[in-house]
Amino acid sequence: MSQVEAKTDTPFWERGNLAPVHEEVTAFDLPVEGAIPPELNGLYARNGANPREGHSGHWFIGDGMLHGVSLKDGRAEWYRNRWVRTPRFNGAPRRPGMPDIRSSTANTNVIAHAGKIMALVENALPMMMTRDLDTVGFHDYGGKLDTPFTAHPKICPTTGELHFFGYAFAPPFLTYHAVDASGTLMRSIPIPVKASTMVHDFAMTSGHIIFMDLPVVFDMPAAQRGTMPFAWSETYGARLGILKRGAGIESLRWVEIDPCYVFHVANAFEEADGSIVIDVAWYSELWRGGPSATSFDKAKLRRWRVPPGATKAQEQTLDERSVEFPRVNDDRAGLHHDIVYTVDTGGDNLTYGSLCKYDLKTGKSTEHAFDKGMASEFVHVPGKGGTGEDDGWLIGFVYDRARDASDLMILDAQRIESKPVARIGLPARVPQGFHGNWMPGV
Ligand SMILES: [Fe+2]
Repeated sequence: MSQVEAKTDTPFWERGNLAPVHEEVTAFDLPVEGAIPPELNGLYARNGANPREGHSGHWFIGDGMLHGVSLKDGRAEWYRNRWVRTPRFNGAPRRPGMPDIRSSTANTNVIAHAGKIMALVENALPMMMTRDLDTVGFHDYGGKLDTPFTAHPKICPTTGELHFFGYAFAPPFLTYHAVDASGTLMRSIPIPVKASTMVHDFAMTSGHIIFMDLPVVFDMPAAQRGTMPFAWSETYGARLGILKRGAGIESLRWVEIDPCYVFHVANAFEEADGSIVIDVAWYSELWRGGPSATSFDKAKLRRWRVPPGATKAQEQTLDERSVEFPRVNDDRAGLHHDIVYTVDTGGDNLTYGSLCKYDLKTGKSTEHAFDKGMASEFVHVPGKGGTGEDDGWLIGFVYDRARDASDLMILDAQRIESKPVARIGLPARVPQGFHGNWMPGV
């Protein structure tokens, strides 16, 4: 039986290509179909939950595993997959309901900032990793950081600053942090909210930081059971907290939105009149009836617009398709964007079939269907010297059912429907996983 032909009574995150792999693999000089653009020198790394024991109580709580491909001068130099060796991975006991920012799975994202590669999960400190995906240890910014660190920090392309937040089960429930381009923690500001809620992502513009205070709230019985400690609240409400970048808490204002849940923000920016625009993958609800309900296939691309002085956001659904993992050209982070890339979830947690590209200016969208392949998150890599928003490439892992292994695909971002520019054959399966990034020059 192939590794992915699992029994149907197992949860969806242990079936098909969501199931964990059991080996760490190293392979050099990978086979390539097509041609890798020689200017792509660096590391593509991606994180995901891959429980060491082979199973976990929830998709989100398995041990982190990084998958990386090093590209150099038109060659696929190597592929490696490595577990993030957190204290928990190494056997440190778990204390259900007792958060510990030094005991984590580090399973959600991996970024590079100020010369450090960091594996991230939202309830712990970052774990520093080497370029070869070996674990170095926790990074607490010289002892200054004492809250968790979101898995979705934002790097400002103009200043090189890293903006992030941490949320906790005890006050302060939400804290915003900013790190300068050299990696020094500049400031930390507690953000007043009513309760501990699950805050997976946030938004940044050139002038503001936007927090999402949404009705998926801390659930003590679930925490005591050791599963995802959150559930939908009918009464909590939903709002956006808008903080001026570089200013203090006195600049914070709250804006009402329709109740919803959002894991992922595509990007946000400011219009000429000062309106703030935020594009998100939007769920009308999440985990109503408890955190054991697991559906991640109903998000739609939606836009919030907050005019100056408004107390309620304007809301617009941009497309009816079910999509997730929204990304933009990271050179546009916090700046105006027209193009959003997503993966079509197809209304089924197990079939991420297509990559979608939305041009929000023209309203047109294009797709790349991977036939029987399953796409993971794709990231945009700007072309050298390119000025167009979609100059460059899209990179991501695609599971090939026929050979029960994965490929790293490189697509031309201007012509995503065309044949891939390069298809790099990996010797093993890369589970669907969560988030990754291209790290140029790393
Ligand atoms: Fe995420």
